[in-house]
Amino acid sequence: MKNLLVFVLLSLFHGALFSQQNQITIDADQSLGNINPLVYGQFIEYIGRCIDGGIYEENNPLSDDRGFRKDVLAKAKALNPTTLRFPGGTVVKTFHWEDGVGPKELRKAKKNLIWGGVDSYQFGTCEFIEYCRALQAEPCLVVNLSTGTAEEAANWVEYCNGTGNTYYANLRRAHGYAEPFQVKFWALGNEEGAEPDAGRHQDPNDYVKDVWHFIKLMKLTDPSIKLIANGEAMNEHWNKTVLDGIGNAVDYLSYHYYVNTTANQPYSIFEKIATAEKEIEHLGNFIRKNYSDTVQNWSEWYRFPHREEPIKLSFDEWGIWEKQDPPYGTTNVYTWRHALATASFLQVIQRKAKTIGIANWAQMVNILAPIMSDEDGSVKQTIFYPLQAYRQYGLGESIVAESHSPTLPGGIVALDLSATIDREKKLLTLFAVNRSLQEIQAPLTLNNAKIKEVKSKISYSSSSLEAKNTLAAKEVDVVQVAEQKNIQQNKPLTFASESITIYTFTLQ
Ligand code: AHR
Repeated sequence: MKNLLVFVLLSLFHGALFSQQNQITIDADQSLGNINPLVYGQFIEYIGRCIDGGIYEENNPLSDDRGFRKDVLAKAKALNPTTLRFPGGTVVKTFHWEDGVGPKELRKAKKNLIWGGVDSYQFGTCEFIEYCRALQAEPCLVVNLSTGTAEEAANWVEYCNGTGNTYYANLRRAHGYAEPFQVKFWALGNEEGAEPDAGRHQDPNDYVKDVWHFIKLMKLTDPSIKLIANGEAMNEHWNKTVLDGIGNAVDYLSYHYYVNTTANQPYSIFEKIATAEKEIEHLGNFIRKNYSDTVQNWSEWYRFPHREEPIKLSFDEWGIWEKQDPPYGTTNVYTWRHALATASFLQVIQRKAKTIGIANWAQMVNILAPIMSDEDGSVKQTIFYPLQAYRQYGLGESIVAESHSPTLPGGIVALDLSATIDREKKLLTLFAVNRSLQEIQAPLTLNNAKIKEVKSKISYSSSSLEAKNTLAAKEVDVVQVAEQKNIQQNKPLTFASESITIYTFTLQ
């Protein structure tokens, strides 16, 4: 009995100590860089029902006269991606853009050699551009480095961007598009180093040799385009060879990272996100140390301009891939825990603003996606909410925000934070993911700025970590969104258990 009393007293003391120790510190003068709006992008690929049967479905009463599923488009608009990457992904290694332009009845339906099934190519370049315009998203096209040629890639640039009296600009006009598409971002292949794929550049020296030819023809066609070279995560030999070879001509190095949950270790997904953050930090330092912000000794004989800005990462595939359905496991149903992980990952992207210039959640519809559809309708998965919210509130300058909060299994901090400041509008926004089972209360110390008022608090929560939205119950939404305004300022900030919270403060 005496022991029990001691235990209860100790626990109470410990609990109180815990809550006293919780602390948030933000430093308005410690900048982590400006967040590029292009970090809030999405990706679509010819894979499963992402495009055919997802975004595009002719003869479905839910589709418009272009074949775009109206319900899916409405959700994609609400998601508000700033950029859209297309058409792959791995499938790009077999993609030939001319199969997907011109009269629809003449397009070449083809077996998808990578992911299975047949692609109709009814949704090709022009439909993709129309989709981007509808979303107000910047298009990013990925060229085929494996079975395509440099000339084919340059012709694609001309088809999209040509303004003169040329065959390919005229072909676009003949297809009904008088104005150039002005596609600025072009990626030079996808995961070219991956041995099991249908690519042919597993040796980075081969990639550099071939890709240099692509760069020359594409840039000579349109010198204003920005290029994304293939990176290979933490393969320093690959990244160094590529950037030593073509780093003066390209603007971005691609980086891909998917996380998942190790069986019976629910916090492992957060540990993996923390590992991604360390990798991004490492890659950013590697780039800044080895490749200067400006380019010297560029030969005028190249006849097109060199890179004009420091090289940034294009984090053009990030997401959660739980491998739920064999063989590739890409039709993921995301729980509320995945939404917390998505928000945590978005906070990494915000914190790494100096390094990341573009980022795309992979993907958008039906495959690893925030939007799921079937013939009768569509639903927003749990991860939709953080993707939408961070885009809406997460622009401006990223600044240092640190929490002192309990440590969870795997060494994960309970309260993960990021913060942004808009110095002109005098607004500070704090993003927080409470990954623990308890509500956290924490006083805020703001250095080098003063809060005028707590403008608003938006919190996202759900009944359980395993809650999910499904196509089987489209009318049910397990995500609760609550907004409070005019909150008393002298109280500690509060974060509900297993929640995402966005506080906005006005500054003096
Ligand atoms: O997004 C699914 C696949 O993941 C992409 O096709 C490929 O680039 C990556 O490995």
